[in-house]
Amino acid sequence: MSEIDDLKKEAGIAACEVVESGMKVGLGTGSTVAHTVIELGRRISEEGLQIIGVPTSIATQELALEVGIPLAELGELGGLDVVIDGADEFDPEFQLIKGGGGALLREKIVAQSSSRMIVVADERKEVEKLGLFPLPIEITPFSWTETSRQISIILESLNCSGKIVLRRKENLPEVELDGVEFPRTDSGGVFVTDNGNVILDCHVGANITEPLTLERNLLNLAGVAQVGLFNNMCDAVYLATEAGVRVLRKNP
Ligand code: A5P
Repeated sequence: MSEIDDLKKEAGIAACEVVESGMKVGLGTGSTVAHTVIELGRRISEEGLQIIGVPTSIATQELALEVGIPLAELGELGGLDVVIDGADEFDPEFQLIKGGGGALLREKIVAQSSSRMIVVADERKEVEKLGLFPLPIEITPFSWTETSRQISIILESLNCSGKIVLRRKENLPEVELDGVEFPRTDSGGVFVTDNGNVILDCHVGANITEPLTLERNLLNLAGVAQVGLFNNMCDAVYLATEAGVRVLRKNP
């Protein structure tokens, strides 16, 4: 395991202290929170912890089932006690960029349904201003180039213009989505989300000064399914540093 993997594991496991028997728990997506899911599975089998989980992606659903976490549909539960999830960046106000793993839409639905959101992260994720990590935006395949053009106008209006890149992965094939062809290029085939959409990664640099306005304006576009800005959602960050895990609380 690399040092970064060790830090991810420490943060992922430490955050499990917020989970108690009887809780309904949102299970985030990504390599850090995967350690949380595995630890919760261990506590269920070894310590008799009783929880119900709601996964934020197909990948997390598979992992949760593998480690023995009972799952339910979000709509059956009347809200969740807590969601634990990773982040790509968080700023001093605890505003987040998420979606590096492509699960932003389900992650935000689950976070909005939870009384508390706990983020697990290593120290590389802490930033002064959001945007160095390319902002993911999930959009419909239909007229995606036009949606991309409209997004660039909004980014420009808030002084955070930059290159907008359709997310691709080397090992993916060419696909047709809603009648739109997405051929392979040198960068691979298009990445398709669990919801059948595609993702634009917006390389705006650390220039997001108005995350709330940016999120609202982008969500106003019909072709935008979700924006990877998670504003005013996160309550605490379990941050793994070389000196150990620090718990940063929004309202200490
Ligand atoms: C998934 O879509 C993302 O929001 C992840 O939570 C985020 O990318 C953090 O992932 P890692 O823990 O793998 O860095």
